[in-house]
Amino acid sequence: MIYISHSEQETEAVGMRLARSLPAGAQVIAMYGELGAGKTALIRGLGRGLGITELINSPTFTIVNEYRGERELFHFDMYRLGSAEELFDIGWEDYLSRGGVCAVEWSENVPEAFDGSEIVVNIRKTGDGEREIEIRGVELCRYWVWKPPPQPPPALSGGTESCLP
Ligand SMILES: Nc1ncnc2c1ncn2[C@@H]1O[C@H](COP(=O)(O)OP(=O)(O)OP(=O)(O)O)[C@@H](O)[C@H]1O
Ligand SMILES: [Mg+2]
Repeated sequence: MIYISHSEQETEAVGMRLARSLPAGAQVIAMYGELGAGKTALIRGLGRGLGITELINSPTFTIVNEYRGERELFHFDMYRLGSAEELFDIGWEDYLSRGGVCAVEWSENVPEAFDGSEIVVNIRKTGDGEREIEIRGVELCRYWVWKPPPQPPPALSGGTESCLP
């Protein structure tokens, strides 16, 4: 399916919908697209949809960032990875066995990481601020309701705290 995005926020929203559409169990999301296509933006939305409250940024210098939400998210950036051997070094197989969502930027660099069962997200720049987001391997849910994370209870107005007997 192809989704058209007109802004970074719309791309994040597609990521949120993707999170809500994922089947249970381990999931690999192979992302393709040039520099600045919006891969990180989509993963930011994906993280939000998985209940992650931390801000998600590109893990360029660490190769992988880990986040804990309703499900774990492992955010890979393979930009600097050059060989299948390095894939082994970063513990790719271990990540796969942990049951989280593995979202991979620069999948172009690691074709040996994928066995065909992955979800594919291909983002193309089609204009100033416009992106064509092709998603294969899962049908996005049409609607979803975003629930804000639980808020702390409101502060009591006035008075002092006291212990009940
Ligand atoms: N429709 C859109 N969707 C996503 N990003 C957009 C869109 N229109 C403009 N942008 C801009 O494009 C950039 C996308 O950056 P982002 O870091 O998500 O790209 P990326 O694909 O992860 O790049 P990199 O390969 O460098 O990691 C941002 O600066 C964002 O504001
Ligand atoms: Mg990125």
